[in-house]
Amino acid sequence: MNSAGEYELPPLPYAYDALEPAIDAETMRLHHDIHFNGYKNGLNKALAQLKQFRSAGDYPEISYWENELAFNGAGYNLHTVFFANMAPEGTTKPSSTLSKTLDTHFGGLDAFKGQFSAAAAKVQGSGWAILGYQPFGGKLVVLQAEKHQNLTQWGVIPILALDVWEHAYYLKYQNRRGDYIKNWWNVVNWDNVAQRTEAAMTA
Ligand SMILES: [Fe+2]
Repeated sequence: MNSAGEYELPPLPYAYDALEPAIDAETMRLHHDIHFNGYKNGLNKALAQLKQFRSAGDYPEISYWENELAFNGAGYNLHTVFFANMAPEGTTKPSSTLSKTLDTHFGGLDAFKGQFSAAAAKVQGSGWAILGYQPFGGKLVVLQAEKHQNLTQWGVIPILALDVWEHAYYLKYQNRRGDYIKNWWNVVNWDNVAQRTEAAMTA
């Protein structure tokens, strides 16, 4: 957030080619610099437009702009998590604390990865698989999202997000989404996942 209260594009925390061969440099450049930046711009535009409406006390096309706020806001939030969730060669495995948490909520790491991968593979059209924490029930959940904002539970804090929009993998994998999902696990930054899990569960 800058001094004007506008969202900013978080810098990529590694080089464009750092996640190869799982994700190629050109996909990373387009995904981060063009797509992610576009959601940031769309979010700021929606917020500015709604501010103008409030000043004028008049709300033409309010549904359109609320939809823009939801779509771009959810897109911005999920991409912020997604790029931070990855690192060159990932980290080898979850910490013991995170492993115990995954045991409690999913019956183990492999069971969690199985559900998450299946959810990612079967998202209809453009969307996400998301590990999130539901504070109302005190549970970790795996959700699918269509586009960025559909099929959520209110209140869930995203912890680990896998983008399965075609812009995330099509240059390298074309229609082979399953291969992209399988290779993506190799670049998951489990330390980042552990930090986000602890922050969400102790908030
Ligand atoms: Fe994306």
